[in-house]
Parts: sequence; structure tokens; C-alpha cells
Amino acid sequence: MRYFIQYPAGTSELVADAMAHFVDDFRAEYQDDSAMLFSSSSPMERVADIPFAKNAFAVISEIRRGDINANVEQLAGSLKESQFPPLPGPRARGFRVMVHVDGELASVAGAPKREIERTVSACTGMRLEPSGRGQEYWVIGRLDMRDLMFCARLPKPARPKKARGALSHELSSMLVLASEPRPDDTFLDPFAGSGSFVATRLTLPAQAVIYSDLNLADHREQLPDEAVRDRRVRLLDEDAMVLPSVPDGSVDAVVTDPPWGEHEELPVPYEEFARTTTLSLARVLNPAKGRYVLLCARRGAPAFDEALTDAGLAVRATHEILVNGHPATVFVGDRRSAAEPAQKQEKPQPPRKPAKPLLIGMGTYRRSLNRFSR
Ligand SMILES: C[S@@+](CC[C@H](N)C(=O)[O-])C[C@H]1O[C@@H](n2cnc3c(N)ncnc32)[C@H](O)[C@@H]1O
Repeated sequence: MRYFIQYPAGTSELVADAMAHFVDDFRAEYQDDSAMLFSSSSPMERVADIPFAKNAFAVISEIRRGDINANVEQLAGSLKESQFPPLPGPRARGFRVMVHVDGELASVAGAPKREIERTVSACTGMRLEPSGRGQEYWVIGRLDMRDLMFCARLPKPARPKKARGALSHELSSMLVLASEPRPDDTFLDPFAGSGSFVATRLTLPAQAVIYSDLNLADHREQLPDEAVRDRRVRLLDEDAMVLPSVPDGSVDAVVTDPPWGEHEELPVPYEEFARTTTLSLARVLNPAKGRYVLLCARRGAPAFDEALTDAGLAVRATHEILVNGHPATVFVGDRRSAAEPAQKQEKPQPPRKPAKPLLIGMGTYRRSLNRFSR
């Protein structure tokens, strides 16, 4: 079967690395900044469950891309010969057809639109339901993709409600995956806010998960249930620049999103904040196996880049992404082979690219997802 997924902009390298661990016989056919077309022998349920996919689709038909109105008519013709596969989830009675070309909804003339809707209705026995309740079929075109596809949207798995200001579930999953989760990890988010990384990390086996945020009192009300109830969780309200109750070298993985320095008042200039924070992370991370993933505003990336290296935290890869449309940078690295802070000039730094250390543990992640989320 061929599938198309959309994911957070800029995470394409992380997605490309992760896919083979989530679906079987994975073969990428097209990828851009925020979407991928691939083939796989895995069933639709598995693809619908991919935690970092914002939308997932099964491809039903495709034609060579040209004029959109003519294309929609041609697709309607091709659908008469196509198989509409049974879709996972409860059977819908109604459907609608969306046309999404080059990242935005496209308008199509009335006649071809009605023609494709009539065809879908005849092939599936469903009635048109323009309000949006029911099954969605999408006509999808992407820049640099030769063909235009007709796809069935796969059902979205139920996900906990996102608190205000929280990162999306998809991005949280992607960044937690980048930390190479392992069952014996002690995990820390020292700027945990609404607890998105903590909640995502708790879906996997872990030894201990530390939530810390200076403003825990403000966030407590909104914390996900699992962050409050799970016995593996420790809730702290400590300053991430100090973390007084986290012993040296006691943490295996940090995934965090420090204040962006844009709206919040920081107690010190941003460069100093980045320096003190990274020294604090370097102290608590296990020197032999500590890993970290740090997300910051793109404007603040040079300060963190320098601070991480100075603190003895090797940067293995960086990813330029968008968070709600705002440019951001993700640093992925580890404590293992980084130079010690005081000696960093003397030891050669390992190369930053190509950097693909992200996926050890993805198999565990998928198996765990299968075990825990079904
Ligand atoms: C960008 S937000 C993190 C958002 C979080 N990733 C989420 O999805 O909700 C930064 C968080 O850091 C906290 N914070 C700010 N300064 C801090 C400090 N010095 N130590 C610990 N937490 C701090 C803020 O209260 C805020 O919740």
C-alpha cells in the first residue's frame, strides 16, 4: 500500500530516520519539508498511529499533474477503475472531498468537483456531507511532485487535550524520539511547562521521569493526568540553572524547551542564561551515556550552540524547524564523547554531519507504542 503523511515543518530528517522503525517494508518515494509519500506493507491502522504524523492518508489513485480542473475530472474517471480499500475505524456514512495543492486548499470549478463527489458516492455508498463530519478524501498535490494523488484520510488516534502554550503532540513525539529513549532512562525536562515532553516520555518504558519548572504552581492545574499520577514521575519546581536536588550525572536524557527570551523576562541576559542552563544540564547528565535534545528560538541558536559546546555537550545534529510558524532550532547531542568543559580546545570535536545517532531505541519506541496505546 502507498501512504502519504504530513508532519511538523523542518523535521524531515528525523522523520526519514524514524519511519523504518514504525512501518514494515518502508520505501520513501517522495519527501519534502513537511510531507512524505512512501510504500509499506503495514496496515493502515499502523500508519494512522504514527505519533509524529499530523495527518496520514492511504493513496487510492494518481494522475500526472496539470490543470487542476482537468485533473479532478481525470481523477474522477480513474476512480471508477480503482479499489476503495476498507478504512480503519467505524464506518462513516458521509464524506467530503478536499483539494489541497502546494500546502493550501485549492478551489476547483463546480462541474469537476460535483463529478468527483458523484463518483466517490457511487464507489463507496456514502453520501456527500460537506460539513466535514465523516470520511475525508483529499486530492493532494505537492511542489516538485510529478503526480496529483487522490487519498483517503486515515482516522487520527485519540490524543490527550493540548494545554495552552504546549507544544503539539507530533513535535513532542519527534523530539522525545530524537533522545533515543531507553527503558532504563532517567529522563528530565527542566523547563517542563505544561508537561508535553513528560507526558510523551511516559508513554514509553522509563526508570524515572523528572518534571521541573520554576512555575510549577501555575502549571499544576493543567498538567496531564499521567504526569501527576504516574509513580515514575517526580515533580520539582527548581531553577533549571541550578537544579539543586538533581545529583551530578544522574540523568540519562534531557528533552527541553527553555524560555525563548521573547515575551518572558529572563533574570539575566540571554547569552548568560544559555551558558548557565547548559552548564547545569552538563552537570546532571550522565557523562558516559547522557543525551539531550534542546529546542530554542532560531534567534537564540548561536548563543546555545556556543554554550553547549563550552559546557562539554557535543552537538551531533541541528534541525531548523517551525513551531507555530516561528523559526526554531533543535540541537541533538550527547555528553558521551564531548570534551570536558575545561579541556575543550585540546580534544578534537566529532563531526556534526552526517549525524544519525537518533534512532537506536526507535524499535523499542514502536513496540512500546503498540503495547501501550492499543
Ligand atoms: C517555553 S516554556 C516550555 C513549554 C513546554 N515545552 C510546554 O510544552 O509546555 C518554558 C518554561 O520554562 C519555565 N521557566 C522559565 N525560567 C525557568 C527557570 N529558570 N527554571 C525552570 N523553569 C523555568 C517557564 O515557567 C515555562 O513553563
